[in-house]
Amino acid sequence: MKALKTLVSILCVCSLCSCTPTQENKADDGKNAVIETIMTRRSVRKYQPQAVNRDTMQTIMECGINAPNAINRQAWEVRIVDNPEVIKKLTDLYLKDNPKEAENPNFKNMFRNAPTVAFIANDTTFAYSPVDCGLMAENMILSAWSMGIGSVCLGGPARFMKSNPEANAYLKEMGFSENYDLLLCIGFGYPAETPKAKPRDAAKVKFMD
Ligand SMILES: Cc1cc2nc3c(=O)[nH]c(=O)nc-3n(C[C@H](O)[C@H](O)[C@H](O)COP(=O)(O)O)c2cc1C
Repeated sequence: MKALKTLVSILCVCSLCSCTPTQENKADDGKNAVIETIMTRRSVRKYQPQAVNRDTMQTIMECGINAPNAINRQAWEVRIVDNPEVIKKLTDLYLKDNPKEAENPNFKNMFRNAPTVAFIANDTTFAYSPVDCGLMAENMILSAWSMGIGSVCLGGPARFMKSNPEANAYLKEMGFSENYDLLLCIGFGYPAETPKAKPRDAAKVKFMD
């Protein structure tokens, strides 16, 4: 019995050790899945026509709401639209104001052609809410990419929906709470292109001694 108790104690200590990293895991062997996901993700603007499977969107949202957020107030609200009729009606309104867009042979809809769109609203009474929403958005985007789902973060359609009275009616239908304001949209879908990385300016980061 004593031997059994000792064995259980050793196993508990071992499992604790394995959950508590005591030294950094170097990523220089190129096998770190998170780094791989971050470094290969690009904004996708060409998609296959079908909406993202709702179970997959559910997983993406679970990842979204597990983002760090100020005082765990979770100052965000999200609506997901994958109804092609709604996306088309909004796009028709958008094209009335931006007719030239329709001349682009790749144009399918105003959400950079994505068949599934997440609308993220922030709490205008809480200063950190836009930060919370941004962190949530990135969790969504990266978890999506890790599962082969492309995405594009979009400010333009959010601005349009707030400024165009007819599009604003759709926004009202989304029923965001009082004091919540649409901040950004994220288009999701199965990618039909593999965009190259745009250059980044590493000089913007400096280590201070
Ligand atoms: C807050 C925000 C707003 C954006 N709005 C738009 C947009 O309205 N239309 C668009 O095509 N891309 C938009 N983007 C995507 C950026 O253009 C893209 O992330 C950037 O050029 C870097 O390219 P990458 O995502 O492929 O690395 C937005 C991105 C962010 C973070």
